[in-house]
Amino acid sequence: MLEDLIKGNRSYRRFYQDEMVPAETLKWLVNLARLSASAANLQPLKYLLANEPARNDAIFSCLAWAGYLKDWPGPPPGERPSAYIIILSDREILKQYWEHFCDHGIAAQSILLGAREKGLGGCMIGSLQKDRLRDLLNIPARYDILLVLALGKPKEVVVLEETAPGGSIKYWRDAAGVHHVPKRRLADIILV
Ligand SMILES: Cc1cc2nc3c(=O)[nH]c(=O)nc-3n(C[C@H](O)[C@H](O)[C@H](O)COP(=O)(O)O)c2cc1C
Repeated sequence: MLEDLIKGNRSYRRFYQDEMVPAETLKWLVNLARLSASAANLQPLKYLLANEPARNDAIFSCLAWAGYLKDWPGPPPGERPSAYIIILSDREILKQYWEHFCDHGIAAQSILLGAREKGLGGCMIGSLQKDRLRDLLNIPARYDILLVLALGKPKEVVVLEETAPGGSIKYWRDAAGVHHVPKRRLADIILV
């Protein structure tokens, strides 16, 4: 059921790093993005795939993890993503990818839902050192870097909670390592 898939599609930040994600799976995921909505059907998005250690390490070194977890620098070796999909925009199709184009968010969600269906999980990473990533991966200036999707077999439990108006929206981790994600209540976000 879609509702179950969405509920299970949490941001996962710890993985079984040794569980490799095959290139075929990454391509299958990008195909889901390819079939998704695109403003004016321009389809400016392009994708870089990574699933081997040296390339993964380079990408990992550019990412910032879980800003609210101040004492956690991100996943340690052994729990890092085993694959990445980097979402780019092609300037030769669209000179300037404006913020109101939400193609990359839609693509990211399609990919992450597909990943969940395959027993994988991931996290959108928007907080990244784009210039460094461009240098390390030799990404041509033709492509704007929009978002990195970290992927792998999740090694953590993530639970949803409800937060009342005025309550904290900051995710947190308990002593057992369970990651808690507060969501605003349905009645608090529907205005009519
Ligand atoms: C556009 C976008 C950018 C994000 N960037 C980061 C990031 O840089 N680092 C990170 O750890 N999580 C990032 N996240 C994940 C959010 O922190 C996460 O979605 C939020 O805590 C809610 O958890 P949930 O995805 O399980 O609902 C990002 C999410 C989105 C939608």
